[in-house]
Amino acid sequence: MREQRVLVVDDEKLVCWSLSQMLAGAGYIVQSAMNGAEARQKFQDFVPEMVLLDVRLPDANGVELLREFKAHDDDIIVLMITAYADADSAVSALKIGADDYIGKPFDVENIRHIVDQGFEKKKLRKEVDFFRRELRKKYDYDNLIGNSSKMIEVFKMIKVCAGTDAKIVLVLGESGTGKELVARAIHYHSARSQEPFIEINCAAIPDNLLENELFGHEKGAYTDASKSHKGIFEAAAGGTVFLDEIGDMPLPMQAKILKVIDARKFRRLGGSRDIDTDVRIIAATNQDLPYMVKEGTFRGDLFFRLNVMSIPLAPLRERKEDIPSLVNYFIERLNEEYGRGVQGTSAEALECLQRYDWPGNVRELRNAMERAMMLEPGTVLSHEFFNHEIRQCGQASVKKPGPGPGPVGREVPAVAENGYITLPPQGISIEEVEKELIQQALARFNGNQTRAAQCLRMSRDTLRYRIKKFGLQSAGRDDE
Ligand SMILES: Nc1ncnc2c1ncn2[C@@H]1O[C@H](COP(=O)(O)OP(=O)(O)OP(=O)(O)O)[C@@H](O)[C@H]1O
Ligand SMILES: [Mg+2]
Repeated sequence: MREQRVLVVDDEKLVCWSLSQMLAGAGYIVQSAMNGAEARQKFQDFVPEMVLLDVRLPDANGVELLREFKAHDDDIIVLMITAYADADSAVSALKIGADDYIGKPFDVENIRHIVDQGFEKKKLRKEVDFFRRELRKKYDYDNLIGNSSKMIEVFKMIKVCAGTDAKIVLVLGESGTGKELVARAIHYHSARSQEPFIEINCAAIPDNLLENELFGHEKGAYTDASKSHKGIFEAAAGGTVFLDEIGDMPLPMQAKILKVIDARKFRRLGGSRDIDTDVRIIAATNQDLPYMVKEGTFRGDLFFRLNVMSIPLAPLRERKEDIPSLVNYFIERLNEEYGRGVQGTSAEALECLQRYDWPGNVRELRNAMERAMMLEPGTVLSHEFFNHEIRQCGQASVKKPGPGPGPVGREVPAVAENGYITLPPQGISIEEVEKELIQQALARFNGNQTRAAQCLRMSRDTLRYRIKKFGLQSAGRDDE
């Protein structure tokens, strides 16, 4: 069953009837209209995905209708029906976006073919869009923005690592500083760029599955292993394995990775054969590995192996000179993504963005920009749609907040530098405070509940319960 909706618009009853019959027989859901007014109504109520549209209607011009329909729904497929005498209208219809035209008199079977093709083309168009987006993601690394001296050092290191095929690279930095972007940049600028780049998040995969993911298994290796399975070290042959959040890798697994690094060989689970590996390993973490080594939660020998070629990414607060170019870059990207026409920020908005300390780094900046751009009705981004913490930074430059009346409504009192929250004179709803802080934590960590919960010093279950209670969306990375 196709379940695709087609609207047939023609003032000849017989044309409407024969086309409707044929298309319904072919599995389409069909409605028809015999004049412009009816067509407009059905376009709204029936929401067709395709319209077969007569150029000449008693009360309307088909080309005008086409323009209206396309303006409402860019994706709609419109096939014009024209008598041969109307060749000029057909040409102008094609110019303004009709997908094809059908000359009268026509062969009904032939039309079925054209309709099928129309849907097929739309599907292909969607697929092409999808691949374009994927491709853009892949080449996102070229959009690593920054002109601070710290970022220039990073660019140099990326170039060195990409050019020399260093077998192990360690990328360090707080959450949201761009570690993944750097890892991709190294891979896609290296001689390995035609081979796979496969990432694995060591924190997101349960300990007992990590080994299987990395090294794969042989058939019968454990009860459910009915087939053999390649791990990512095999799947990425010749390419790069990105071990993200390596600080979260359990100690026994660390020992195994160390062995792979040393011997450049591994075995599948349940396997008896050594498999040679030629991958480059890029590891990343936001944790303090030397401290973990001291604490005994990260192997010292693995740390020394990883730490030969390391790229530290400074937190955004230590390279604030990157903020204006990042802001411009995000405006451009988000305009494209959401079809917006924002031209820039107000002076006050930029002031806020430059003064704020960005504990969630570039990701938090991107999220703040995204939120503000969705809400901003005009073409100049004002500070109004930033969250309270960011907005306050702008005000701080105008006047320091004194002991006067505190913020009203949903506003949350900012935490003062000494870490205390002051109760505003008019009181405050503790639930609103809680809700706001949870929202901020989720935004800061891109919806990662584990991190948000850690930051709020609560268990993930408690966080989940509150997200549900407050009806909050925890969109973002899946951190199951
Ligand atoms: N220098 C930069 N230029 C442009 N975009 C950046 C830059 N740094 C980070 N970003 C953007 O910020 C977001 C977070 O980047 P990324 O995922 O690489 O960070 P990360 O350090 O891996 O974070 P985490 O530790 O949370 O995994 C992404 O949307 C990325 O595109
Ligand atoms: Mg990352």
